[in-house]
Amino acid sequence: MKIGNQNYQSIWVDENDPGVIRVIDQQKLPFFFEIKELRAVDDVYSAIEDMTVRGAPLIGAAGAFGIYLATLEINSQTNIREHLSNAARYLISCRPTAVNLSWAVNQVMEKLKNEHSPESLAKTALKAAIEICEIEKENCRQIGKHGLKIIEAISRKKKGEAVNILTHCNAGWLACIDYGTVTAPIYLAREKGIPVHVWVDETRPRNQGSKLTAYELGQNNIPYTLIPDNSGGHLMQQKLVDIVIVGSDRTTRTGDVANKIGTYLKALAAFDNKIPFYSALTSSSIDFSISDGLKEIIVEERNPDEVTNVSGFAEGRIQSVRICPDDTVAANYGFDITPARLITGLITEKGICRATEKDIKEMFS
Ligand code: MRU
Repeated sequence: MKIGNQNYQSIWVDENDPGVIRVIDQQKLPFFFEIKELRAVDDVYSAIEDMTVRGAPLIGAAGAFGIYLATLEINSQTNIREHLSNAARYLISCRPTAVNLSWAVNQVMEKLKNEHSPESLAKTALKAAIEICEIEKENCRQIGKHGLKIIEAISRKKKGEAVNILTHCNAGWLACIDYGTVTAPIYLAREKGIPVHVWVDETRPRNQGSKLTAYELGQNNIPYTLIPDNSGGHLMQQKLVDIVIVGSDRTTRTGDVANKIGTYLKALAAFDNKIPFYSALTSSSIDFSISDGLKEIIVEERNPDEVTNVSGFAEGRIQSVRICPDDTVAANYGFDITPARLITGLITEKGICRATEKDIKEMFS
């Protein structure tokens, strides 16, 4: 997608040095546009941990490139299998909720099984990581085509009046290498001349909505309005929301969706107001091994400082300010689980299905 007039992905291989992976530093947006270089497994781990890169498909892609960088660290003293398995475990341990990370790391590891020389390991790992990026991009494009049909139908019903879409967090191109899961149908609708307007939840505590979704929608000329997270219910009661579309960090085979904390409350409000609630996701976010989101998905807990402090831009730099008494105890759950019964449907690269075990199985058989 575009920043200014230039096309970017949120992760790519340096054109001049294949030992360098480049990423957009999402900690700095929208205040500074900076590109970071990742040269070692540790760099990838830190970038995922401090959320330089974030969003389920992107952390998967970063993990895949992490294994590639691990192959470049091999020397004559290295026990290759031990080194790569340690790197895989280390990377996967970084963020527990999004299944994409382990999915992508394991995909690359699988492809390395029959490779033995450092050169062939590096070549195969690089190819596999690039392939994952290409697949995720294509999947987002397909999600766009399928999701567009829902937006078109609402637009027809509203006789061309703008379709109001509410989203939570950032499931845009920054989170997904390109296009985005939630945003792909929105970008396509706009391209087709369908008027759309997006309600952007700020998404406390890290504000990926206000910092990232607002930024990317603005860069791509999509009309949006930023709202505090608590406004969604009110807007839905006032019939100012036509559809809610959120991403997913892990979806069970029965259709429960783990997504950024606060998603569940939007789903409850949408259910109460009979507003369609969709999760847009690539199949790399489906964990076919689990069936009960509440019992089986590990919800990441992050540093409470993200709750007690707010970071923003003042005096030419990014600053953090405390918003509560000094000794406040805070809790910072990163995700919540939306049960399948509250979800109208899943928009995937294969099409749209109900959030049920039967439909998911049929779609991905
Ligand atoms: O903690 P983050 O910023 O990695 O969380 C991102 C989200 O919750 C997104 O909505 C998500 O990854 C879903 S799909 C891109």
